Amino acid sequence: MNTILQQLEDRRTEARLGGGQKRIDSQHAKGKLTARERVEVLLDEGSFEEFDMFKSHRCTEFDMQQTKFAGDGVVTGWGTINGRLVYLYSQDFTVFGGSLSETHAEKICKIQEMAMRNGAPIIGINDSGGARIQEGVASLAGYADVFQNNILASGVVPQISVIMGPCAGGAVYSPAVTDFIFMVKDSSYMFVTGPDVVKTVTNEVVTAEELGGASTHTKKSSVADAAFENDMEALMEVRRLVDFLPLNNREKAPVRPFFDDVAREESSLDTLIPENPNQPYNMHELIEKIADEGDFYEIQEDFAKNILTGFIRMEGQTVGVVANQPMVLAGCLDIDSSRKGARFVRFCDAFEIPILTLVDVPGFLPGTSQEYGGVIKHGAKLLFAYGEATVPKVTVITRKAYGGAYDVMASKHLRNDFNYAWPTAEIAVMGAKGAVEILYRSELDDKEKIAARVADYEERFQNPFVAAEKGFIDEVIMPRNTRKRVCRAFASLRGKKLENPWKKHDNIPL
Ligand code: HXC
Repeated sequence: MNTILQQLEDRRTEARLGGGQKRIDSQHAKGKLTARERVEVLLDEGSFEEFDMFKSHRCTEFDMQQTKFAGDGVVTGWGTINGRLVYLYSQDFTVFGGSLSETHAEKICKIQEMAMRNGAPIIGINDSGGARIQEGVASLAGYADVFQNNILASGVVPQISVIMGPCAGGAVYSPAVTDFIFMVKDSSYMFVTGPDVVKTVTNEVVTAEELGGASTHTKKSSVADAAFENDMEALMEVRRLVDFLPLNNREKAPVRPFFDDVAREESSLDTLIPENPNQPYNMHELIEKIADEGDFYEIQEDFAKNILTGFIRMEGQTVGVVANQPMVLAGCLDIDSSRKGARFVRFCDAFEIPILTLVDVPGFLPGTSQEYGGVIKHGAKLLFAYGEATVPKVTVITRKAYGGAYDVMASKHLRNDFNYAWPTAEIAVMGAKGAVEILYRSELDDKEKIAARVADYEERFQNPFVAAEKGFIDEVIMPRNTRKRVCRAFASLRGKKLENPWKKHDNIPL
């Protein structure tokens, strides 16, 4: 009996070594953790339960039957993050470069299917040379099976991808389908075709880092949602993110203990808006002052900075925040910010996370590059996302809400529940100067008359009261009371039930 038990221990020890100590050392030398170390860091201590530890490949091409490693290059299983169930897989670069074989894919698919059935997030740690070259098309089929499961799981359970090494070719499409992608600076990259192919086809000379490193994907392409200094930091941030999310689309996000006064007044908010309407202020300040304990988990912090997206808690409950940022492009909506905002709103709606929208938007950014780039279609994404969302929606207009952007930014007209405005709000079709120039074109030479017309327009229309008189603004609130008012609004909406008409699915302008 003892020998049998010992056999199990021996096989486990061997499996835990992956591709062997030499390759583990080489992984460490690159500043990277191994697949198993990553699992240990990510999950609550001692909570990991492994599946398929001994599964190995079935390939006989290239004499592959001679080289088998238990687990076949991916560690899969489940565990907990702060006591809550998650499923995960972690590719082991020490085994055939973490490349994906038929059996490696089967292991990932098993985890994905269990996560969907049991309603818990899937976290994929990617560190792989791509398709297992020796297996050819069987490996491509394996990828497609993983993609298909990613697609089915979308909107059912949260899916988080962490890129901690190479992720190239078609392999990028699994993370691309998931909800969030985190990367590690200087040690991870994602691209469809690598630098060599790029050079051959387009003559461009580019390094892997420039083409698909963390900086590229968080600042330029927006493929990734955040970049971190090292494996440890990235994994700790995944833990923080998971804490904000529900386990699946039938459950609400967890309510965390909070130590902040719901009715906390912030008198500094009364003077947040500068006297000069063209002077910017930092919208972060408002978000942090109304959030529980000032904690804001920002998503896509480095991309389209004219809109802020992320999670806060109010009375311990997760709230998704979308806010124009007057510090960048005066807070205008454009192609990138519309896409960023829309994707975030849709994630929140899919997972029953209430949405708080903070508005200070002078309009859509004008220009040929915007029009040629399809700002109409991209702007429509944000409009569509807000209009279809059935979760509790609360909006606060702090200053500008002009033109179409007023409508788009979670206006009352998009089935919004609470629309508050600060007394400093300006809600109008366009700014006073532009409006007067159109309405009084014949008087344009008379500077004094025009100035008087502008002042009159400002007086009559650049305030929240015209909209409030029509019921488009539910209440004009004191800035200092924003936290209290918004908390109470969300509290009153906890029983909200709203359904869209039956459809197979919508046709959001992609
Ligand atoms: C089998 C692979 C492999 C692969 C790496 N290895 N990639 N084995 N299939 N795709 C093995 C190596 O043979 C080596 O084995 C070990 O992993 C580590 O690889 P190194 O090259 O020594 O490591 P490094 O120098 O760090 O380079 C990493 C790398 C490079 C950049 C990922 O290995 C590489 O370019 N690999 C090929 C990538 C690729 O072209 N993949 C197919 C892409 S097409 P030993 O035994 O020496 O440790 C694709 C399509 C997906 O993925 C389609 C989905 C629809």
